[in-house]
Amino acid sequence: MSNFHELIKKRRSIRKFTEEPISPEDVESILKAALMSPSSKSTNPWQFVLVEDKEILEKLSYCKKSSSKLIAGCALAVVVLADPLSSDVWIEDSSIASIMMQLQAEDLGLGSCWVQVRERYTAEDTPSEEYVRLLLDIPLQLQVLSVIAFGHKAQERSPFDEEKLQWEKIHIGKFNINQLTD
Ligand SMILES: Cc1cc2nc3c(=O)[nH]c(=O)nc-3n(C[C@H](O)[C@H](O)[C@H](O)COP(=O)(O)O)c2cc1C
Repeated sequence: MSNFHELIKKRRSIRKFTEEPISPEDVESILKAALMSPSSKSTNPWQFVLVEDKEILEKLSYCKKSSSKLIAGCALAVVVLADPLSSDVWIEDSSIASIMMQLQAEDLGLGSCWVQVRERYTAEDTPSEEYVRLLLDIPLQLQVLSVIAFGHKAQERSPFDEEKLQWEKIHIGKFNINQLTD
């Protein structure tokens, strides 16, 4: 990828992946991006569980009542966890680590999609977090933020159209109530 602007313009959520595995070098780059992400007071409250086993990916894909099936077809899922007792801003820290991995994946030409786990429920109304905790032996002191699914892209997505950016969300100097839309 030539420059950062092109990278963020091109990055879109990818929910269909080929069968091709991700090379160990690319997996390492994705993990380095997580481990180099900034965190408040450098607490690094996160932990990451890598899942490549197809059977576990299939089970993980049932972690929510909807919008998680794509996990079954990915080559790698990184489950993002954090210890809320080690940081009061663990959600922010873990979210940053998640998007850093996604941007690194895009830079490698790989697709990715964030699957929200925190505050979500399975089809049986079990908290998604509890479902993932049981499946992956996650200790009680850690909370589950998300599952980031990665793989080689099996779908084309259009890049962002810069003509359609929501400039009304930008307020110059002070908040302009007239810019609020319904
Ligand atoms: C916090 C967060 C939670 C998300 N949860 C899901 C999810 O559970 N399942 C899913 O398919 N996509 C999920 N996404 C992806 C969004 O749907 C996607 O980023 C959004 O529609 C914008 O599309 P784009 O990523 O292609 O630009 C999530 C994204 C974020 C940032």
